[in-house]
Amino acid sequence: MPEQELNINAVRDSFNESLKTARTLQELDDIRVRFTGKKGELTLLLRSLGKLPKEQRKDAGQELNSLRDSIEAELEKTGRKIRDEENEKQELNQRIDVTLPSKGRTMGAFHPVMQTMHEIANIMQGLGYSVAEGPEQEEEFYNFECLNIPSWHPARDMQDTFYFPDGTLLRTHTSPVQIRSMLKYGAPLRIICPGKVYRRDNDTTHSPMFNQMEGLLVDKDVSFSVMKGTMSEMLNAFFGRSLKSRFRASYFPFTEPSMELDIECVECSGHDEHCRVCHGTGWLEVAGMGMVHPNVIRAGKIDPDEYNGFAFGIGLDRMAMLKYGISDLRLLFDGNVSYFMSGFKGAE
Ligand code: DAH
Repeated sequence: MPEQELNINAVRDSFNESLKTARTLQELDDIRVRFTGKKGELTLLLRSLGKLPKEQRKDAGQELNSLRDSIEAELEKTGRKIRDEENEKQELNQRIDVTLPSKGRTMGAFHPVMQTMHEIANIMQGLGYSVAEGPEQEEEFYNFECLNIPSWHPARDMQDTFYFPDGTLLRTHTSPVQIRSMLKYGAPLRIICPGKVYRRDNDTTHSPMFNQMEGLLVDKDVSFSVMKGTMSEMLNAFFGRSLKSRFRASYFPFTEPSMELDIECVECSGHDEHCRVCHGTGWLEVAGMGMVHPNVIRAGKIDPDEYNGFAFGIGLDRMAMLKYGISDLRLLFDGNVSYFMSGFKGAE
């Protein structure tokens, strides 16, 4: 038996043994290099063919060629097997159990002021009012002049205003929307305007930005009792019960006569002289209102001899605090949810 033949069998055996141990594609590749690489065992055998005596070359050559073919076929076959196994393993790992409970998702919710805004707007829409809008950056003309507050008027001091260098301002109330709506829609008219307003104020009971809702009704022969009825209807629907209310004479340049509306304390109904909400007075001030001043009707390009109306302004933040038992105005504007929750009535 020629010496080379022994080597061929040894390489075949050692290849077969190695192949049995291959578990990964990397291991398989190492085996491929070990046998068929540049300095691989099979490669070296093929190279040494030339050194064989002539009469042995042909047989050994055939044998080596068939060994090379079978090595390549085996490598290919095992490679396919390993790849299939790996794919299967991956599929098993990635399988999703659709019956598993989800990790849960926290849901967002409307801010209490937004909720209040929607609730009151809904009630007013039920009474035939439409929602009107106006800009937050407003002109003095609409914010003051048209509302019967000329520049010399002491009432301008009532509202500390943020001015822009060009003389425009951040609206101090939603009342300018009264004028804009009258100019846009004419009479008769029923609108509400919820929105942000701004004043140079910042303490426990005032924020530089807060929310109001304006209401305006213009029609023929509007009486004071229509105003009273509308306000009571709105407040009772909002708080979900019939509350005592009282109208106090007040002053606003844009209404005559002017009132402020108080409702019975939603916390103690006037029975607790130490009540933290009404401070023992039994009453809560919730809105300013009155019969629209003829000058304001006129500024809206409506004839005050033919039409009159009433208007009101209501503080939405205060309404939200009263309804949801929020003790500090600043909690409404704080981003910390747990801090916010701690301000709720009955929170741990
Ligand atoms: N604009 C007033 C304020 O911000 C609130 C107000 C009072 C609005 C009387 C009205 C009104 O429409 O008639 O304090």
